[in-house]
Amino acid sequence: MIHLKNIRKTYESPGRVSHALDGVDLHIRQGEVFGIIGRSGAGKSTLIRMLNLLERPTQGEVRVKGEDITRFSDARLRQYRQGVGMVFQHFNLLRSRTVIDNVCFPLRLAGMARRAQLERAHEVLALVGLSEHAGKYPRQLSGGQQQRVGIARALANRPELLLCDEATSALDPETTQSILRLLLDINKRLGLTIVLITHGMDVIRAVCDRVAVIDAGRIVESGDVLDVFLHPRHAVTQSLLSESGVDAEGWRDLAQAVRGRLLRLSFRGDATVQPMLSRASRELNLDLSILQGSVSRIKDTPYGQLVVSAQGAEPGLEALAGMFAAEGVECEVLRP
Ligand SMILES: Nc1ncnc2c1ncn2[C@@H]1O[C@H](COP(=O)(O)OP(=O)(O)OP(=O)(O)O)[C@@H](O)[C@H]1O
Ligand SMILES: [Mg+2]
Repeated sequence: MIHLKNIRKTYESPGRVSHALDGVDLHIRQGEVFGIIGRSGAGKSTLIRMLNLLERPTQGEVRVKGEDITRFSDARLRQYRQGVGMVFQHFNLLRSRTVIDNVCFPLRLAGMARRAQLERAHEVLALVGLSEHAGKYPRQLSGGQQQRVGIARALANRPELLLCDEATSALDPETTQSILRLLLDINKRLGLTIVLITHGMDVIRAVCDRVAVIDAGRIVESGDVLDVFLHPRHAVTQSLLSESGVDAEGWRDLAQAVRGRLLRLSFRGDATVQPMLSRASRELNLDLSILQGSVSRIKDTPYGQLVVSAQGAEPGLEALAGMFAAEGVECEVLRP
């Protein structure tokens, strides 16, 4: 749906040039939830703003359904933007307007008649679970409720694309989960494409299908969320993962203390809940001990990763990898 091609964005101020984006290529598919993660200053906001041209690239193309939107006339661009909703970290609601008027705002800009505006606004408020709060002012709502208003406003014009810039960063963990569930629900029910940026891997794990990691204006790693979680390649990805409790390297400290072959096993889907270790131990006559492990979910898919040491006779050890492979478990030898 969206192809970014060699995007560069340079900010110049007297005596200083900053390369916020330094040659970004990205493909976002229709209907997916695509996450962009990186540290503060990495270029996330600049990147997401390329998708509605709140910022214009210094160089490169932003192709949406085959057309480079940087070449659109002002009128075309206005029309395009109506199909793109945006949700912000600090909600950006109009303080002096009621909830319903905040949601009507983009509809009014689009030239809709008042009665139709109200009808549509009530529809989207129902969708985000705020029907009873239509007449209130933003200050009378909790942070999570205000973000729901922000989401309703972004959905009012029936966008095909929803952009979320740190939409949950100002919220507590429980409210974050409820907003993420709402985004997932919207993605499924309305089939709309969502691009979200965050600095937390837990947000990526909860809702995204694919992810790109950005560092110093470059995409350093991208792929299916499962692949990136199970096999992070770049140092930035690894440290973002370990900060959110997914530490792939913790076993190293224990490795000295155990003998035997060290294996890293990666499970996806149904394989995650099969009693494979006990079977391997029984059938191949091996002693297995777990040095590190976790089982979790990415969206609806269970996945897990274990580092185990295996001791026993050579034929058993040799057969072990084959047994796991037959069950669809990836088996990587960390120490022979
Ligand atoms: N309007 C601007 N003028 C000058 N420099 C800018 C401007 N906007 C962004 N930058 C610079 O571009 C780089 C990327 O900024 P950006 O806001 O995209 O980062 P970010 O990843 O969204 O960070 P955060 O997580 O803190 O929101 C930073 O070095 C920033 O200082
Ligand atoms: Mg930002």
